[in-house]
Amino acid sequence: IEREALNKIADAESMKELQEIKVAYLGKKGSLTSVLRGMGKLSKEERPVIGEFANRVRENITTSLDEKTESLEQMALEKQLEKETIDVTLPGRPIKVGGPHLLTKIIEEIEDLFIGMGFEVREGPEVETDFYNFESLNLPKNHPARDMQDTFFISKELLMRTQTSPVQARTMRAYGGDKPVKMISPGKVYRRDTDDATHSHQFTQIEGLYIDKNVRMSDLKGTLDTFAKKIYGKDREIRLRPSFFPFTEPSVEMDISCKVCDGKGCSVCKGSGWIEILGAGMVHPNVLSMAGYDPDVYSGFAFGMGPERIAMLKYGVNDIRQFYTNDIRFLKQYHKA
Ligand code: PHE
Repeated sequence: IEREALNKIADAESMKELQEIKVAYLGKKGSLTSVLRGMGKLSKEERPVIGEFANRVRENITTSLDEKTESLEQMALEKQLEKETIDVTLPGRPIKVGGPHLLTKIIEEIEDLFIGMGFEVREGPEVETDFYNFESLNLPKNHPARDMQDTFFISKELLMRTQTSPVQARTMRAYGGDKPVKMISPGKVYRRDTDDATHSHQFTQIEGLYIDKNVRMSDLKGTLDTFAKKIYGKDREIRLRPSFFPFTEPSVEMDISCKVCDGKGCSVCKGSGWIEILGAGMVHPNVLSMAGYDPDVYSGFAFGMGPERIAMLKYGVNDIRQFYTNDIRFLKQYHKA
């Protein structure tokens, strides 16, 4: 019995088999158990001898079972470790890195450029009063020029600002009417437009305002020329065309000479060779005096531009909605631009 049991234990390949062997020999109906049970029938002299022998066999089998159990467990562990080994020579999975949005980048680029010319950056509220968005900018109630900007009204006096120009009035008031102002103000603006490739009901603007004694049109032109050359390249020219804004007089629109560049190279754009990029002008005397500045002492210029438009012309983006639909394939192209 002993030899048979030890052989079986040696051959066993699983815990289940070992368990079966244990039952077969040492269980209640096991073969060794029945030998021990039969002890009663033996004579007095035989009993201790056979008993001792049978107990030794029982111990040997038990020890052998324990050892085998341990070695099977060890093997199972080794197998598992082998399976879970990490191959340190495999290339790692790349970590996806984000980047600033194209619009954020162009706004920061424009900010840096104007900070370099001594402008400070200021912000104003997107929910604005009728007073700051219109009246303080020489657009009294029922003025026909209000129709130039279709407005989301929240109430009779509150609206979503249609332009960043209210920050002009807010800043001048904050300065108290007696100090020069040199600021730009980037931010979101809202208009009741139907979204298409060139319109969005929400877009961004950057306002610029310079107030001091003796600020002239030539200062405006020089500042805008510097801006255009820094953003688009030294070979760009600007031209100012007469225009109308209620808060500037005279008012102009600025064009830049245009080249359209794609992956293959650059060519001069179609049409006149000029492309409109922003509105500007000399701050209207009414706007100055409403904000507490004496128009006989102070003068200034203001401009307003759309960063989307600036970026579209710079990078050849042909649909303004690309800035807002968060298509990662579009945005990713500009992470290293
Ligand atoms: N606020 C004007 C617009 O949204 C742009 C502008 C700003 C024009 C400042 C002149 C001076 O169209």
